[in-house]
Amino acid sequence: MSDMQTKIAQTIAVLQQAAREFAPVTFANSLGAEDMVLTDLIAKNQPDISLFSLDTGRLPQETYDLIQKVRERYSVPLQVFYPDATQVETYVAQHGVNGFYDSVENRKACCNVRKVQPLKRALAGKKAWITGMRREQAVTRGSLEVSSFDVDHGLQKFNPLLDWTDAEVWEYIKANDVPYNALHDQFYPSIGCAPCTRAITPGEDIRAGRWWWENLENKECGLHVASRIPKRA
Ligand code: ADX
Ligand code: SF4
Repeated sequence: MSDMQTKIAQTIAVLQQAAREFAPVTFANSLGAEDMVLTDLIAKNQPDISLFSLDTGRLPQETYDLIQKVRERYSVPLQVFYPDATQVETYVAQHGVNGFYDSVENRKACCNVRKVQPLKRALAGKKAWITGMRREQAVTRGSLEVSSFDVDHGLQKFNPLLDWTDAEVWEYIKANDVPYNALHDQFYPSIGCAPCTRAITPGEDIRAGRWWWENLENKECGLHVASRIPKRA
């Protein structure tokens, strides 16, 4: 087996282990390149894993186009979760529609209303969740584990692509003709909400375009909180 085939087999094994030992399990799909690899692997191998996306209401058009494409291409359904309307209205009344630029605190409050609270609903009743996070993505992700107990959300968390490189993600996407976000071809390696994501220039860090006005150590949105006590499954 090539290195790539080995990595794919290991990743499928992690997905199957999660589905077997932690049912019901769900996959948080941001529609980023890594998450499209996982979408394709789940659709092809059919472990019993549901898929969901958090629509913050501020996603780029290209991400909505991809959500639509996933619906057309894959038989596995992708459930879309929305923020609570009253919470968004309260946030906007207090801070303004673009209030997230004013301070880290205001930005985290927006992420809380638009992502973290909907995530809690998406994870309710689940025994594990799966993400597309990779170790090399960020300084904040160096100590992640493939499987660990997520104390913040109270369930097991799997990162099956943890040790994949960026090149391997793209090799898989090209080899399997996996649909991907059109913004990736316009120097957006990491994509979140439209107002909080910009293109990077060659040589810049891959997450430099996320919340670019903030310091590196702040660049997590609250979906993945720092208080991790790694514990193997
Ligand atoms: S973030 O914390 O900066 O937003 P990033 O975009 O790198 O995270 O994504 C890391 C993982 O978080 C993704 O692989 C995915 O599992 C989950 N995630 C992030 N955004 C969303 C979203 N909008 N919907 C579902 N899952 C998401
Ligand atoms: Fe709000 Fe920006 Fe966070 Fe999206 S990424 S929820 S727009 S602060």
